[in-house]
Amino acid sequence: MPVKEFRTPITNKPVLIGTDSGYDNIIFAIESSCDETAAAIVKNGREVLSNVVASQIKTHIEFGGVVPEVAAREHLEAINVVIEQAFKQANISANDITAFAATVGPGLVGSLLVGMNAGKALAIAHDKPFIGVNHLNAHVCANYLNTDLKPPFVALLVSGGHTQIIEVKDWLEQRIIGETIDDAVGEAYDKVARLIGLPYPGGVNLDKLAQTGKPVYKLPEAKLQNEYDFSFSGLKTASLQLIQKLKKENEILPIADIAASFQENVTSVLYKKTKKAADNINANTIVLAGGVAANSEIRKKFFALREQGYNIYAPEMKYCTDNASMIASSAYFLANTMDSLDVEVFSRMS
Ligand code: KG4
Ligand code: ZN
Repeated sequence: MPVKEFRTPITNKPVLIGTDSGYDNIIFAIESSCDETAAAIVKNGREVLSNVVASQIKTHIEFGGVVPEVAAREHLEAINVVIEQAFKQANISANDITAFAATVGPGLVGSLLVGMNAGKALAIAHDKPFIGVNHLNAHVCANYLNTDLKPPFVALLVSGGHTQIIEVKDWLEQRIIGETIDDAVGEAYDKVARLIGLPYPGGVNLDKLAQTGKPVYKLPEAKLQNEYDFSFSGLKTASLQLIQKLKKENEILPIADIAASFQENVTSVLYKKTKKAADNINANTIVLAGGVAANSEIRKKFFALREQGYNIYAPEMKYCTDNASMIASSAYFLANTMDSLDVEVFSRMS
């Protein structure tokens, strides 16, 4: 079980963080990597004491997507209110906090800077350690919230920027089994949603529409050297060609059936590969993570595996998409190495 010694920034006092610290860890975390400004307070990595999210959806609808400069400005406007609300909701003061944490990457640099610097400032002002958190690890850790999940397990991480099958062998030991060689699933959802004229945020809108249609159109599946890798750019092109063809043939575009066909294609590819990867290493526990884990069809396909004896975890909907509770959980369970005030933001995994 992980535990790590951190130092307070002003008086340099040791503070143990992690499951073996011997006392309750109350972590205040901030998330600002993309289009949500979020703050949360979580006890011992699992018990959510407060969870506040300010969404920028309304602003980004106007632009049809996230404009980085606009997002950063919105984070600046929201951050103080969100922090205040997180303290208020939990009825906790800064003195009761064990450490402050914030996402440091991957994400939009301008947006990350707002949250990380707010976290560092709180850490300095209250003389508590600062913990920099990797956003991708945190999505997986969302599955620890309000559950008793422990490694080992296989995780399917599906977000706007990433698609990975990960073997989580132990708290701090993981291996990527497969990943996308081009677009992320969420990105493919958002692009195809735009092609059929759905508003931002595309993924959830396409999911809703798909539930009203039938998967009558056959779309291609990519064949890859590593059978656990993914590719969605061919599917995107095929979807575009299908839409163009149907536009010529029909007065009204059958968008619900197109959405259902796309959704069926994507979710069965994710399902097949993840199950095969889990079976291949004899893993009986599969966890879903990231914004696309909120998808109704993905949840349905994987939850059905419970009848075959698998343990299936997926975060509650509000913890699938970006939130700060998952950041606090990751700070606790993974007690990252990015623990000093010198840590800087980064946009991509290198
Ligand atoms: O994890 P997340 O909130 O942010 C990133 O770290 O990227 O994921 C956002 C992605 C977006 O592409 C969004 O369209 C997608 O998750 N998404 C969905 C659904 N809800 C969110 N995609 C498919 N079905 C959904 N229900
Ligand atoms: Zn995310």
